[in-house]
Amino acid sequence: MSFDLPAALAALPGFPQLRGSRTRLRGPRQDDADAVFALFSDPEVMRYWSRPPMTERTEAEAAIGEMQEAFAERDKINWVIADKSDAVIGTCTLFRFDARHRRAELGYALRSDRWGQGLAHEAVSAALDWAFRSLALHRIEADIDPRNDGSRRILERLGFISEGLLRERYFVGEKVSDTEIFGLLASDWRNGDR
Ligand SMILES: CC(C)(COP(=O)(O)OP(=O)(O)OC[C@H]1O[C@@H](n2cnc3c(N)ncnc32)[C@H](O)[C@@H]1OP(=O)(O)O)[C@@H](O)C(=O)NCCC(=O)NCCS
Repeated sequence: MSFDLPAALAALPGFPQLRGSRTRLRGPRQDDADAVFALFSDPEVMRYWSRPPMTERTEAEAAIGEMQEAFAERDKINWVIADKSDAVIGTCTLFRFDARHRRAELGYALRSDRWGQGLAHEAVSAALDWAFRSLALHRIEADIDPRNDGSRRILERLGFISEGLLRERYFVGEKVSDTEIFGLLASDWRNGDR
């Protein structure tokens, strides 16, 4: 297979703009800082995240700068999830692109006051669909804390398969936690009913 993933990423004119019926994926802007801070300072959202909750708005400003820089280098596609009024309610990220094996990793977060409405499902579906079609990825992976039931549910509903438990893989502060790896193949996605 000769698909050139780095060239496809480099050829993107900007963040792909993706739309669902209730959500939109777009690039982050500095004027999203209040909303990004609200998201990543929420202890519910950060419960199983790889870092502790933000405590200062400046951390959100820095995070937005890092997202923009990572996209400029085509290292990550770190979309924000916006609602109909263009307010940021979450993030969805594709990262660790592996051109040789046509693989990437997926991450996402949604404001806790918007959980339970299928908004994350809609937004992440749009990202997966775009990634399989436009980047010709063969496989997308996600790793979660095995206690993260909300994350497990969204992955399983999207067709991801749990492929194994890696013991004590991450330190978050002083605490070490296991990780569970999920995988979704392009063929699973094409054949799935979501
Ligand atoms: C993971 C996370 C994004 C899931 O959010 P969510 O709102 O539960 O996810 P979904 O968008 O898939 O919504 C599914 C829920 O909405 C309900 N729903 C309502 N309308 C729906 C629709 N049209 N489509 C799908 N689900 C719908 C489902 O029944 C489901 O409810 P349930 O969980 O009680 O069964 C959220 O829990 C989160 O941000 N967690 C913190 C961050 C995190 O841990 N991220 C993962 C790190 S690996």
